[in-house]
Amino acid sequence: MAAPASPHAQAGHVNRTAFRGAKVLITGASAGLGRALTLALAAPGVDLGLVARRAEPLAEVGAAAQALGARVWSYPADVGDAAAMRQAAGDFVAQAGGVTHAFANAGISEPDRVLQGDPTVLGELMRINVIGVINTLLPLVPSMVRQGRGHLVAISSVASFRALPGKGGYCASKGAVNMLMDGFRPRLRPHGIRVSTICPGFIATALTARNAYPMPFMLSAERAAELTLRAVARGRRQAVFPWQMRLIAPLLRRMPDFMLPAR
Ligand SMILES: NC(=O)c1ccc[n+]([C@@H]2O[C@H](COP(=O)([O-])OP(=O)(O)OC[C@H]3O[C@@H](n4cnc5c(N)ncnc54)[C@H](OP(=O)(O)O)[C@@H]3O)[C@@H](O)[C@H]2O)c1
Repeated sequence: MAAPASPHAQAGHVNRTAFRGAKVLITGASAGLGRALTLALAAPGVDLGLVARRAEPLAEVGAAAQALGARVWSYPADVGDAAAMRQAAGDFVAQAGGVTHAFANAGISEPDRVLQGDPTVLGELMRINVIGVINTLLPLVPSMVRQGRGHLVAISSVASFRALPGKGGYCASKGAVNMLMDGFRPRLRPHGIRVSTICPGFIATALTARNAYPMPFMLSAERAAELTLRAVARGRRQAVFPWQMRLIAPLLRRMPDFMLPAR
C-alpha cells in the first residue's frame, strides 16, 4: 500500500530558498488556507508564530509543523483583540529574534442578513476581516523598520472586486483590505518592507463548505497555499488566482447581478 503523502508533498512545489530562515507570523493557522500555509512553510530553520482562537486545532497544526522541523510558538487569540495581538507579535519577535513575514489570513464569511435589519454580523465581519488585519500587521512594522526588511501579506479575495448579492459585508471587508495594503505599500517600501495582497478565488475549506451555490475553479487549500507563497516569494504587489479568476476579475464589475452567485 502506498504511504500517505507528506504535508509537504500535498503542498506541491514551494520555493524553499525564498523562505530559508524565515520567521513568519500566520493568523488563522488552525484550519483551511492558514493551516496549509503553515505546513508548506514548516522546515528546519523556519520559525513560525501561529494565531487562531481555537487552541486545540492550533496545537495540532503546531505539532505537525514541528514534526517537519520548524520551531513553533502558538498564540490562541482573537485577531480582533488589539492587545492580545500586540502581545503575540512582541513575544514572537522576542522568541524568534525578529520577523521576516506576516500573513494576515484569519477571516470569516457570513451573509449580510440585511433583511433582518441586524448590524451584528456586518460589525463582526469588519472587526475580524479588517480590524483583525490591522491588529496583525501593524505591531510588527516597528521591528521590520528596525531590521530594514520584512514582508506584510494580507489574504483578501476575488470578492474584493465586486459586491456579491447578499455578501456586501464580506466583499466590503476585503475591498478595505486591498485599500489598506495599497496605502501601506509606498510608506513601507523606503524601509525595505514589501506589501502583498493575495486575492484567491474559491478554496475548498470550512468557509466555503456551507455554500450551496456553484463555486467554479475551486482550489484545494494546499494549491492555494502554493500559489500564495509563490506570489510572496516573487514580491508581487497583488496576486489573483487561479488564472481563470484573474481573467474574470476585470469583468466582474460590469457583470449584472443575475450572473453572480446568488444567496
Ligand atoms: N475559502 C475561500 O474560498 C476563500 C477565498 C478567498 C479568500 N479567502 C480568505 O482566506 C482566508 C482563510 O479562509 P479559509 O477559507 O481558510 O477559512 P477557514 O477554513 O474557515 O479558516 C479560517 C481561519 O481563521 C481563523 N479565525 C477566524 N476568525 C478568527 C479570529 N477572530 N481570530 C483569530 N483567528 C480567526 C480560524 O480559526 P479559529 O476558528 O480557531 O479562530 C481559521 O483558522 C480568509 O481571510 C478568507 O476570507 C477564502
